[in-house]
Amino acid sequence: MRTMKRITTALVLLASIASLTACGGSQSSPNPGSESSSVQVQKGDKTKSGHDDAEKTEPKKGGGKSLIVYFSHTSTTKAVADAIEKQTKSDIFRIEPTKPYTSDYNELLAVAKKEGRDNIRPAISGEIKNLDDYSLIYLGTPIWWGEEPMIIRTFLDRYDLSGKTVAPFCTSGGSGCSQFRDDLVSAEPKAKVLDALHVEHPQKDQADKLAGKWLKDNKLS
Ligand SMILES: Cc1cc2nc3c(=O)[nH]c(=O)nc-3n(C[C@H](O)[C@H](O)[C@H](O)COP(=O)(O)O)c2cc1C
Repeated sequence: MRTMKRITTALVLLASIASLTACGGSQSSPNPGSESSSVQVQKGDKTKSGHDDAEKTEPKKGGGKSLIVYFSHTSTTKAVADAIEKQTKSDIFRIEPTKPYTSDYNELLAVAKKEGRDNIRPAISGEIKNLDDYSLIYLGTPIWWGEEPMIIRTFLDRYDLSGKTVAPFCTSGGSGCSQFRDDLVSAEPKAKVLDALHVEHPQKDQADKLAGKWLKDNKLS
């Protein structure tokens, strides 16, 4: 069963790599993580680049009761996070690795594989000091090798989401979010984890519509 799952993941990954290469995608894409190693914290639809000390570490207080936390290497997941932010007026926190990932796609495949194999926890730049302010967390990630990148595990190790509702979303070349959601449930057994929103890489332009339907189905909008 597990072997079948691995074979399926490998096939989906191969298909996804082929499609990304065909569209001239990630291999030549700039790495958003390399633009700056500082955390990006946004309040409502206002984007801050995170160089101000206070805003570097936490979203401003007094706003919404929900927070979007996401990691995105090539901005597909960012498009979904932005769509959710627009429709829910949540605060938003982008997970940035302190050491930016390579923009070379093949190299990244190897790096990600090694991180998973060695159970590594890549360091996150900045922190969320006011997590207690939020009862609903949207948690978004790309799928790497069939599951969440290890930097999401760093986040889950560092923050306790007990008692909160967690709404997961993921983007991929085809693999679903189920492994990510299962890992989330294991890491946060006292959180209420909702059904995940899955957006495939080619559907990036439909992020608004897909996020809108998912929010409605889950009574989040
Ligand atoms: C290291 C790595 C591993 C990936 N593994 C998978 C995978 O197992 N299955 C899949 O469907 N897509 C896989 N992809 C494709 C990404 O999940 C997809 O392009 C995603 O939308 C990227 O999100 P981002 O632009 O927010 O970083 C992988 C991409 C990378 C870079």
